[in-house]
Amino acid sequence: MCGIVVAIATRNIVPVLIEGLSRLEYRGYDSAGLAVVGGENSDKLVRLRACGRVAELAALVEMSRLSASLGIAHTRWATHGAPSEINAHPHVSEGVAVVHNGIIENFETLRAGLQARGYVFVSDTDTEAIAHLIHHKRQTTPDLFEAVRLAVGELEGAYAIGVIADSDPARAVVARHGAPLLLGIGEEGMYAASDTAALLQVTRKVIYLEDGDIAELSREAIRIVRAGGEPVERQAHLSSLMPDAMELGPYRHFMQKEIFEQPQAISNTLGLVLGSHSVQEGLFGAQAFDLFDGVRQVLVLACGTSYHAGLVARYWLEAVAGLPVSVEIASEYRYRKSVADPATLVVAVSQSGETADTLAALKYARELGMKRTLAICNVPESAIVREAALRFITRAGPEIGVASTKAFTTQLVVFALLTLVLAKRNGRLSGSEEKKHMTALCHLPVAVQKVLELEPEIGRWAQRFAGKEHALFLGRGQHWPIAMEGALKLKEISYIHAEAYAAGELKHGPLALVDERMPVIAVSPADDLLEKLKSNLQEVRARGGELYVFADDDCGIAASECLHIMRMPEHYGMLSPVLHVVPMQLLAYHVALVRGTDVDKPRNLAKSVTVE
Ligand code: M6R
Repeated sequence: MCGIVVAIATRNIVPVLIEGLSRLEYRGYDSAGLAVVGGENSDKLVRLRACGRVAELAALVEMSRLSASLGIAHTRWATHGAPSEINAHPHVSEGVAVVHNGIIENFETLRAGLQARGYVFVSDTDTEAIAHLIHHKRQTTPDLFEAVRLAVGELEGAYAIGVIADSDPARAVVARHGAPLLLGIGEEGMYAASDTAALLQVTRKVIYLEDGDIAELSREAIRIVRAGGEPVERQAHLSSLMPDAMELGPYRHFMQKEIFEQPQAISNTLGLVLGSHSVQEGLFGAQAFDLFDGVRQVLVLACGTSYHAGLVARYWLEAVAGLPVSVEIASEYRYRKSVADPATLVVAVSQSGETADTLAALKYARELGMKRTLAICNVPESAIVREAALRFITRAGPEIGVASTKAFTTQLVVFALLTLVLAKRNGRLSGSEEKKHMTALCHLPVAVQKVLELEPEIGRWAQRFAGKEHALFLGRGQHWPIAMEGALKLKEISYIHAEAYAAGELKHGPLALVDERMPVIAVSPADDLLEKLKSNLQEVRARGGELYVFADDDCGIAASECLHIMRMPEHYGMLSPVLHVVPMQLLAYHVALVRGTDVDKPRNLAKSVTVE
């Protein structure tokens, strides 16, 4: 959701800006733009913007033969004002250009104040107020860095910004508060971007800015200060991300690649415990031994797919570790006056680590007095990871497709480890049970690989779904969240309206929707709820509904007219949801393929949801 690239170098930085923007495309956007200073023929600010894809901006750049040594660039996901060229960033105020990720909550007050001083606004964005504010500050404080520092002191809300001015062609200024931004140290210059992927083309040496940092980038150096102007040192890290991690390879889409990467992602996440028969607290961080002590309940905070991972984990943590668990949609929890127990382990789950609601919910839980916090996250050094006392980094590798797949299964793996650790502490796990669970966990990559072999058959099923406009997903127990995840995947990338129900709820309302036009997808493991689920499936058949059943091989359901069966491997016990979600992902992917949607960048959605 919005991406920023900033570059200042001894070379032409225009290709760096364009390549950086295309590496940020996966975050989701609807327009793109750039501004540069220090071109071959002019020291004036040049700005180009395009509604639509980065490729359209690249074509404009090509036509204008743009070349420069200083620039800022942006992909915009519309919040204030429609997606249009006029609202696209950078926004300019007489030679000062600004790109911005986040939301300025007091922009209307700022706008009114600036209009009273004679500033004319041409866009509907909150960002334009930042550009005019910096310009206004420069009337009394001409130094660009100081003017930016003073201006951000007046901003309320979340932001990461990049600023250049044609009067100051030897530096760029960036600042962050509540939105991601990191700096890159290259051989030919200095850079900043919303994530590392944008900078791998020029450097792997990065500095993660903290909230409240303001940085000045020149060709040779970086200077960082806090809001009050005090200098601060931030450590440089060598990113472990390799440039080819962002390549498609033999796959048609990143989503397909990421579905097929799951066995490896699970192996990598298990890391040191792969092949081991026991599990220890230390996996969750040095302080885990102390912070897990006396935990009486667990609170999971997350959004979307990560929320579904929490819902599955509730079944595990309650049944195996004997702990009461609440799983909360972060955007709801953060505004609820709930009852806090300091003996709660708060688990924030997020692929990106930047989801604004999850981050805010985590902070809120801490403010309420719950200090035992754990982040389960795929991005080290992300805001959520830095906010939590403990962390477990899922080693899924970069997830580019907007639809989350390998992040989900690796989150489940971490939750399984957490369940075993807490069960062991609570004296609820014998040595033989621990060994049995660990063996199943370590065998998961092989088991998932087996499920992936169903792809051709699922592709054939997808043909039948492609013409539908609605679908129902059913599941029971720990597979109910898998039905929810199946429905989310389908609607997200194929735009088919899909709903998931706990199968026992069917006759309390949704059964009224069932007729021969409504496909009903059932997640049907051979677990202790199977007989109950079979009765629910009969209710669908009796109303003429067409059933598509993903059944464990040992479930004893036979195919018949209007009851189609996809045979999964034998039942996998507690970890069965990890296997059952894979055909849900593949089904959504293949239906989207048939419908010809933009699989990796579905309309209206962003990968990192950095605004609430
Ligand atoms: O990065 P996060 O895991 O915090 O993201 C949460 C949701 O935005 C995300 O899971 C979303 O629901 C996915 N696009 C679903 O596929």
